[in-house]
Amino acid sequence: TAGAESAPTAEIGVIGGSGFYTFLDDARRVAVDTPFGPPSDDVVIGSVGGRSVAFLARHGQGHRFPPHRVNYRANLWALRCVGVRQVLAPCAVGALKPEFGPGTVVVPDQVVDRTWGREHTVYDEPGAVVHVGFADPYCPTGRASVLDAARDDADLPSVDGGTLVVINGPRFSSRAESQWHQAAGWSVVGMTGMPEASIARELAMCFTSVCLVTDADAGVEGQPGVTHEEVLAVFATKVEHLKDLVRRTIAQLPPVDDSNCECRNALDGITLPFELP
Ligand code: ADE
Repeated sequence: TAGAESAPTAEIGVIGGSGFYTFLDDARRVAVDTPFGPPSDDVVIGSVGGRSVAFLARHGQGHRFPPHRVNYRANLWALRCVGVRQVLAPCAVGALKPEFGPGTVVVPDQVVDRTWGREHTVYDEPGAVVHVGFADPYCPTGRASVLDAARDDADLPSVDGGTLVVINGPRFSSRAESQWHQAAGWSVVGMTGMPEASIARELAMCFTSVCLVTDADAGVEGQPGVTHEEVLAVFATKVEHLKDLVRRTIAQLPPVDDSNCECRNALDGITLPFELP
C-alpha cells in the first residue's frame, strides 16, 4: 500500500556459523517464513562496502540448533526470498592434514556428504522429480573472491581447494573414522557444510564454503582428539579476522547478476514443480 516501507532486499548472503553471530551494524531484522518452516533466526539485512547483504545465524540465537537440527532448507529459502543469489558460508572445521594449523582458511572445491537423517532436498514431493548437477559444488566466482581477499591477511593463511567431508555429528569422529577420512585424501571435516551447499544448488544460488580450521581432527598423528571448548576458543580468537575476510570478499565480489556460473544455471531446462521465490 502507498506509504508502506518496501521489504529490504540483499544480493549477497552470509550464513554465520559457530561464534559468528553478528556481522552487520546498521541493519534491519526481517522475519521470513518458508514452506519448510522458520529459518534458524531472522534475516538481518544491511550493507557492507556498498553491497547489500543478508546475514543469517546458522545455529540461531544462543546457538540453539545443533548441526543436525538446522533447518537448512528454510535458511536457504529465506535468503532467496530476500533476493540473495550469492551465499558465503563460513564454518568451523577440523584439519585432516597436519600442515593445516588453527586459523588456516580452507576454501574447498569439493565435498563429501556423510550426513544422514537431515531434510536434504526442496524437491521432496512425488511428481516433483528434480536432479540438479553437483559435480562442482562451489561457486568459482565466490571461491576466487575469498581467495583474493585472503591474500591480504597474513594471520589467515589460506588454502585454495580441497575436500570438505561433512559428518552428521553432533559427536566428533572416532580416530578410525578420522584416519579413514585422511586416507581418502580429504582436507577438512565439519558438521554443517551439507546439505547446505546442495540445497543452495537446488535453488540455483551460488555458494562458497569458507572453512576456518579450529583444531586437528582425532586421526591426525599425535593429536589428543578435539573438544567443543577447543573449537569455540580457537574460533573466538580468529572470528574478527574471519569477519574482515568476509567483508573484503563482499566488497570485491563481481556484480551477482553478471555471473554465469554452473550454480546460477543449475535449473536451466528443468521443469520445476513450484516457483522459486
Ligand atoms: N568442527 C570443528 N572441528 C571439527 C572436527 N574436528 N570435526 C567435525 N566438525 C568440526
